[in-house]
Amino acid sequence: MKIAPSILSADFANLARDIRTVQEGGADMIHIDVMDGHFVPNLTFGPGMVAAIRPVTSLPLDVHMMVDNPEAWIPAFAKAGADTLLVHVEATSHIYRAMQLIHDHGVKAGVVVNPGTSLSAVEEVLPIVDQVLIMTVNPGFGGQAFLPAMADKVARLAKLRTERNLAFTIEVDGGISDQTISAVAKAGADIFVAGSFVFSEGESPAKQISKLRAAGK
Ligand code: DX5
Ligand code: ZN
Repeated sequence: MKIAPSILSADFANLARDIRTVQEGGADMIHIDVMDGHFVPNLTFGPGMVAAIRPVTSLPLDVHMMVDNPEAWIPAFAKAGADTLLVHVEATSHIYRAMQLIHDHGVKAGVVVNPGTSLSAVEEVLPIVDQVLIMTVNPGFGGQAFLPAMADKVARLAKLRTERNLAFTIEVDGGISDQTISAVAKAGADIFVAGSFVFSEGESPAKQISKLRAAGK
C-alpha cells in the first residue's frame, strides 16, 4: 500500500518543513490538490506551487487537477515537475485525448471519478491509464466524511481490472483515516490519499502514517 499525504492540510507557511516531515515519516508520494474555484468551490495552487515543491522532495508528485479545461494546464504542470497528472472525467469532453496529452508530456496519466459518476464513464480509457482515482468525498475540501458506498465502487473497479487483465493502480481520496482505510484496502485500492488525518489530527505525521499502514493491512 502507498500513502500519499495531501498538502491541502499542511501548514502553507511551513510547507517545505511539512513535506520533509512526511517524507521522513514514511510517505510514498506527495498529493497536491489543484482547485480552480470553478470545477470545485475552492481555490488552491497552480503550476508555480508544483515547481516550488519539486526541489524540496525526492518523492513522486501526484497532482490532482480539480479544474475546468484541464487540457490547457497539462503542459505547465508537466514542466513544473509533476510525476502523475490526474484529470477528472467530469471536467472534459475529451478524456481520451487528455490522457494521451499527459503521456505526450512524459508524465503518468490518471483519471478521476467523482462520487456521483459511474465507472462506465471511464471504462474506455482504462487500457491507457496508469492510475484511477476514486473520490471518496465530493471534491473541494479537506476534512469531509468518507462516503462508505465508495468501497463497493473500488471493488467493482478492481474486478474490472482483473477481468480485463489491466495494470492501472487504484487510488482513493477523501476521508481516509485509520477507521475508514480498511474498507477501501480490502476492496482493492493501492494508493491512499490522506490530508487531515496525517497533518491535523492526533499525533505526529509519522505516527499517523504508521497508524494508516497498520489499519489498512
Ligand atoms: C478533496 C481533496 C483531497 C483532500 C483530502 O477535494 O482532493 O485530497 O485533501 O483531505 P482529507 O483526507 O482531509 O479528506
Ligand atoms: Zn485530492
